Amino acid sequence: MVPAATLLAPLFAAIEGGEQHQRPALLLAPDAPFLSFIEVGYALRACLEDRRQHDYLVQRLRPHAGVIVGTLPAGLLPHSMLPRTPPLPQFRPLEQISDAEVHDWLVQDAGMIYGELQQAELERYFAAIAPFVAPGGLMVDLGSGLGKVVMSAALSLPFQRCVGVELLGYRHQLALQRCQQLLALNQQQLTLLPQPMQRAQPLVLPHGARSTLAHLLDLPQRLAFIEADMFKVDVSAATLVFLYSTCFGPLMPALAHKLASELQPGALVSTTTYPLSHPAFRILQHYPAGTLAWTSVNLYQRYGDWDGTAPPVTSYAPDPAEWEARVRAELEKR
Ligand SMILES: C[S@@+](CC[C@H](N)C(=O)[O-])C[C@H]1O[C@@H](n2cnc3c(N)ncnc32)[C@H](O)[C@@H]1O
Repeated sequence: MVPAATLLAPLFAAIEGGEQHQRPALLLAPDAPFLSFIEVGYALRACLEDRRQHDYLVQRLRPHAGVIVGTLPAGLLPHSMLPRTPPLPQFRPLEQISDAEVHDWLVQDAGMIYGELQQAELERYFAAIAPFVAPGGLMVDLGSGLGKVVMSAALSLPFQRCVGVELLGYRHQLALQRCQQLLALNQQQLTLLPQPMQRAQPLVLPHGARSTLAHLLDLPQRLAFIEADMFKVDVSAATLVFLYSTCFGPLMPALAHKLASELQPGALVSTTTYPLSHPAFRILQHYPAGTLAWTSVNLYQRYGDWDGTAPPVTSYAPDPAEWEARVRAELEKR
């Protein structure tokens, strides 16, 4: 029997620590991929940096308080990925930017906030879902960042394939680099095992699933990362979709609709913080904040009998007066 814990512990250790990565500024060039995002960000930031414009900034943000994570949008804070280079000549001031553009910017800005669950939280998560996961199948992380959950899933559970989908090119590249490092370490460890290696040699995975050495020998084929907008990637073959959805509040109705439309009956979806409020899904487990992870985790299953009608959109809006008081207090400090 191969000592699974001895082989896996260094692999898990190799994928820790992505949360603290350096966020590079977005590229500002006439054909850059996030140009309209940068333009709106520049317009909002110009108002933030001019005290005389604070009232106008609050007035423009107020209708969209429900899609702002925290007090001021993350993209306007010092660690934001908005470049500091001068604006392009065609960039418009906030007065010429529509409410719909501000709204879309805020939604996208919130979604790009980065965070990872700690390895101990992921271990508890995989232990909790292990009884619901059949061997084989496809795990997909929508918004996969630096790939920690995808790689941890491939190590922890007997998925045939684990795929991460990430919007930001630099995060996708970091995920690829980290994956290469993981695969090199895995290869190095496998060559230290008694030779010749037997694919069929039993391997018990961390949460009790019975597998074989093929689980690690096939790791390169079992992992994949895609740089794309998650709304443009078909997930119909997925048996588990993972969403670290804590910053996806405003995206949840669209995500729920996409998953209901694409997933096969029986497929699992897990979310953090926000529920998947959709009649195509039933909740299997709810883990309150502080049990598996610092935030709540929900596990859902796709039902077979959804009639295709979309549910009413649930709003996650905070109390607008309370939000405005917080923003004004924040602006006062500037
Ligand atoms: C909170 S991070 C979670 C990273 C990873 N899932 C984890 O748990 O370690 C959310 C990620 O979703 C990505 N994201 C946001 N909107 C996206 C979209 N439309 N398509 C793909 N990725 C997106 C962000 O860039 C960010 O890296």
